[in-house]
Amino acid sequence: MSVALESVKDLDRQDPLFAFKSRFALPEVMIYLDGNSLGAQPIASHEAVEGTLVQWRNELIKGWNQGWFDAPERLGNLLAPLIGAQDGEVVVTDNITLNIYKLIGYITESQSRKRPVILSEGGNFPTDGYIAQGFCHFTEFEHRFIPVGGQVEDYLDDQVAVVILSHVHYRTGQVRDMAEITRKVHACGAEIIWDLAHSAGALEVDLHAHDVRFAVGCTYKYLNGGPGAPGFLYVSKPNQNKGWQPLTGWHGHAAPFAFDGDYAPASGMTRFRTGTHSALIYSALEASLALWQEVNLAELRAKSLKMTELFRECIADTLQRHSIEDITPPAEQRGSQVSLINQQHGYAIVQALIERGVIGDYREPGLLRFGFTPLYLSYEDVWQAAKHFCDVVESGEYQAPRFQVRSSVT
Ligand SMILES: Cc1ncc(COP(=O)(O)O)c(C=O)c1O
Repeated sequence: MSVALESVKDLDRQDPLFAFKSRFALPEVMIYLDGNSLGAQPIASHEAVEGTLVQWRNELIKGWNQGWFDAPERLGNLLAPLIGAQDGEVVVTDNITLNIYKLIGYITESQSRKRPVILSEGGNFPTDGYIAQGFCHFTEFEHRFIPVGGQVEDYLDDQVAVVILSHVHYRTGQVRDMAEITRKVHACGAEIIWDLAHSAGALEVDLHAHDVRFAVGCTYKYLNGGPGAPGFLYVSKPNQNKGWQPLTGWHGHAAPFAFDGDYAPASGMTRFRTGTHSALIYSALEASLALWQEVNLAELRAKSLKMTELFRECIADTLQRHSIEDITPPAEQRGSQVSLINQQHGYAIVQALIERGVIGDYREPGLLRFGFTPLYLSYEDVWQAAKHFCDVVESGEYQAPRFQVRSSVT
């Protein structure tokens, strides 16, 4: 490889984030490049879940009055500074899919249902489009796609009520111009829901600076909340308390323990809650969010860009020799991932790497995806992963029959 290991070790010695790695429980023989799917486990999360198990055993139902019940709002306030939001603007609840549904209903209701079209992007992670279609299926609304490669502004008109868009695209890692797109959508009288699945904890996000009114995201990727950790939902203060959201459960009620027959929405972000959540997974996430309070996001972004660049540089010659396309965007438009395309062998290459302990993932059609998480990856890890990549591809190791077998999760 063109980059010497010694120079990479220097980068680690100068890395201001280096100490965070020791706060994660990482398997010894693994280089984990899949934190964009499921983040690693903070050691503190393990302890926090154990603490909640003890609390459940000793306190039983009293636990709900000892912090479990208020966790969605409390964790929302911990998460807010990571996305440029303020106290009382984020609630941690449900998942992205349900949170988009709630926001579409909430927004269209506050627009008096005058505009009939819900617009989402073709080629995005499918759940965003599926849930928009589900909403339209049960209402008078019409769903339309912005085709892959299309510009949002070309599909905006006075019929569009809501646009749903990913800030960082899950396949390419392309970062969208949040300020400009938000401005254009608002100028046409519509609203936009930003999906921050691949942004929160991956780069600096400033919702307030870009006049964002609505956003959703997840906590199991870069935020390291754990498998099945809840999603989050953001509504800027001036846009709160405007009406109902459609999943009107008791935890979103103004007085959940009054047991009134009729629904009355709680004020603020609480109205976006639905029903009972898992105290265990919230405690894992809370420990991770506490760790995130110590992270300097500018340093995180700088390291992320350096790592993705290092990986690309180390594998560039091999990619060229083996017709593997690097579709990773230029640095200023890049999330925290490297995206490669090879239709024929992409799946097998990823499987061969996994057998060597280098974990990336594969998404149809033909996408090899490698996520870079600055808190628990060193530059040396990146260099070693690149070396494995080159060895697997150059030697043809991926051609072994066992790497062609498809598992249900890729
Ligand atoms: C852009 C995007 N949106 C949504 C999701 C998943 O949504 P949910 O949390 O509802 O499963 C993902 C999962 O990877 C995603 O990448």
